[in-house]
Amino acid sequence: MASLFEPLRLKDAVLRNRIGVPPMCQYMAQDGLANDWHHAHYTALARGGAGLITVEATAVSPEGRITPACLGLWNDAQAEPLAQIAQSIRNAGAAPGIQIGHAGRKASAHRPWEGDDHIPEGDATGWQPISPSALAFGGQLGRVPRPMSLDDIQRVQQDFIAAASRARDAGFEWLELHFAHGYLGQSFFSTHSNARTDAYGGSLENRGRFLVDTLRAVRRIWPERLPLTARFGVIEYDGDDERTLADSISLTRRFKAEGLDLLSVSVGFSAPDVQVPWGPGFLGPVAARVRRETGIPVSSAWGFENPAVAEAAIAKGQLDVALVGRAHLANPHWPYAAARALGIDHAARVLPAPYAHWLERYQPRLAD
Ligand SMILES: Cc1cc2nc3c(=O)[nH]c(=O)nc-3n(C[C@H](O)[C@H](O)[C@H](O)COP(=O)(O)O)c2cc1C
Repeated sequence: MASLFEPLRLKDAVLRNRIGVPPMCQYMAQDGLANDWHHAHYTALARGGAGLITVEATAVSPEGRITPACLGLWNDAQAEPLAQIAQSIRNAGAAPGIQIGHAGRKASAHRPWEGDDHIPEGDATGWQPISPSALAFGGQLGRVPRPMSLDDIQRVQQDFIAAASRARDAGFEWLELHFAHGYLGQSFFSTHSNARTDAYGGSLENRGRFLVDTLRAVRRIWPERLPLTARFGVIEYDGDDERTLADSISLTRRFKAEGLDLLSVSVGFSAPDVQVPWGPGFLGPVAARVRRETGIPVSSAWGFENPAVAEAAIAKGQLDVALVGRAHLANPHWPYAAARALGIDHAARVLPAPYAHWLERYQPRLAD
């Protein structure tokens, strides 16, 4: 029976525990470049004790950004500060990961705290999003995307390969392809966004083609010794969940056959009006089913901020890595708090020595 604080080795990546920080956009970049905000943020998270730190959704092309303030990896200048971040994460004892993606029809939005809606047409800070079909997401994201030509598809796949190569050269040890949350990869898979009648639409084989081909191409350049992972929305909570889950599981088997090492199980978010059953660990049983039926290691987020819930998900074999997002924004030392809450011996030792030594030495007095 594994525990949250047991190490995990996946190929050559070693996680000191099974706590992962999932990608969380900071919306603080200019021209896709990471800056001191990102450096301090990711360094603090790594020093906080988690085993895996995943750098936020990083766009493979300018039009693949969710907002103009998102990170990018479409040029070499962008790789430089990211290489420093990867090194800083490693220096703090965590495995440095990065998520690369393309926002598809959800691209060209305002930052969440500035509206979270599409930048209006005619505003030069925005651009026309692209997607498999000319179908808008809806709600606040109402701009109709331009349907992708076959050339667009080839180009975006080349962008994924180029970004993955830069991530590799920048020293990341864990690559996550963003195939979730209604962005481009998910949009090809989901019938909410894909109405194509060519080789990229219709059957599961066709709707999975962009994802499988992209994964295969990236696997060729991503070192065999390092984990290649994907985040995938396996369920929508739109009332058609059994069918979507069955399709997702079939596609995950294909991913595994193409060399995927772990699936980060998530929600599709392909339509605005879904009924997600938010609650502690609600995706745990879904992730467990994907793990059981495909044999691939899994991680998942959404509702694991209670240490007992995260520990139970690992102990029951639902998850290989428990992802804890927003609780890490509130407290980068969440793993230490979790270790104390779970009664782990020498809880402070989940932190690097400059913190652990003093906390362990003085904790009894602090608690008095
Ligand atoms: C500020 C913020 C930014 C996020 N950005 C991303 C992202 O870049 N990529 C992604 O796959 N998910 C993103 N998410 C989703 C998180 O990775 C995570 O799944 C979500 O916060 C649920 O986990 P939690 O309940 O532990 O916070 C983001 C969430 C937040 C709160």
